[in-house]
Amino acid sequence: MTSSGTSSGTDFPTYPSGLMLEDRKVVVVGGGTVAQRRVPGLIAAGARVELVSPTVTPAIEGLVGSGEVTWHERVFADADVDGAWYVIAATDDAEVNAAVVAAAERRHTFCVRADDATGGSAWTPAVGRHGEVTVAVLGDQRDHRDPRRTAALRDRILERLHSGELDTEPGPRTPGVVLIGGGPGDPDLITLAGRKALMEADVVVADRLAPRELLGDLSPDVELVDVAKLPRGRSAQQEEINRVIVEAALAGKRVARFKGGDNFVFGRGYEEIIACREAGVPVTVIPGISSPIAVPAIAGIPVTHRGVTHEFTVVSGHVPPGHPDSLVDWEGLARMRGTLVLMMAVENAPAIAASLVANGKDPWTPVAVVCDGTMPTQRTVLATLTTLADRLVEEAVKAPAIIVVGEVVRVAHPEAF
Ligand SMILES: C[S@@+](CC[C@H](N)C(=O)[O-])C[C@H]1O[C@@H](n2cnc3c(N)ncnc32)[C@H](O)[C@@H]1O
Repeated sequence: MTSSGTSSGTDFPTYPSGLMLEDRKVVVVGGGTVAQRRVPGLIAAGARVELVSPTVTPAIEGLVGSGEVTWHERVFADADVDGAWYVIAATDDAEVNAAVVAAAERRHTFCVRADDATGGSAWTPAVGRHGEVTVAVLGDQRDHRDPRRTAALRDRILERLHSGELDTEPGPRTPGVVLIGGGPGDPDLITLAGRKALMEADVVVADRLAPRELLGDLSPDVELVDVAKLPRGRSAQQEEINRVIVEAALAGKRVARFKGGDNFVFGRGYEEIIACREAGVPVTVIPGISSPIAVPAIAGIPVTHRGVTHEFTVVSGHVPPGHPDSLVDWEGLARMRGTLVLMMAVENAPAIAASLVANGKDPWTPVAVVCDGTMPTQRTVLATLTTLADRLVEEAVKAPAIIVVGEVVRVAHPEAF
């Protein structure tokens, strides 16, 4: 905790403390957006939250409905703070806030005053969390006029914790394998948990589509295994990956299996889980933002839109329709009215478009091919099922690409259709 604060009217610094609020009455006076920001943290701390206000925001009403908050639907009365351990005055009326502070003061209960921090007996720090650690930054008098200063400092500390630059767990690390979904490519689109686990690894086994810029942040002593350099042949390569991750974990290392998107979406992640389990290696999973949703989104194409589609279907196009290995019901897909999202389908797109049309899909159904989603080279090629094959050649489209088929493409690009 960082503190250089001085309390109201004195030169003394504040005394930082972590409140244990489980099953203790906390009174929040006010039902607007300030209260809305404070209440979830109180609930998370296990407090019995009693909120006093004639009106509340819909979000607070939801918390009342779910039984997480007790709402007294009226103006504040002094007796409301009877028995409270902590009070927050968060109305938009300075007189009411002052009355809440005074009532709390008479009962020796600490009270935060939202509209004038120096007018209460406690301050709310800028708070953030990283794993088990809570970072709370309390500024000085200046920060009450400019609370963004403490928030910015908190963010800088959290960034360093998330990136692994600041270590909260310098002790021994638990060996095992963690499957980390890296998101579609932009290093900012990995989850906080994914980034943390990546920075804690001793060995990182990375795929071609994993956000490679993040590998530059790894400590120099981390062993990096580039899957592209393992022996060729799809199943031989997968067996080799399984062997590498299991052997490293059995040698006491913390292994990050780092892939693009989500490891379970056409990522063979579960084969690695099975290999680890068979070898008695502990394995955990950190989901990633998967490309069939994220790549259209970043290109401004929604996979669903109210009144347009009630379903979206994600399909691998790595084998064409009619191929003996195909597990896809292309005839059924042609009958569906919703959005079709094709992955690994650039090569087979002409055959897929032809099959959809032959099975009854409108030949003028809009299509968007989003290439290199979230990368600097990202681009979108628009077509219809009829023109798709020619457009792919004209635009020299190469993998990786997500192909979106359906009316949502028209919604996003009405000018083109
Ligand atoms: C083997 S799959 C892996 C998918 C990944 N596990 C996921 O959840 O996104 C590879 C396919 O994902 C799609 N893909 C992944 N990242 C992409 C990106 N940044 N832009 C476009 N397509 C992408 C492409 O269809 C590519 O052929």
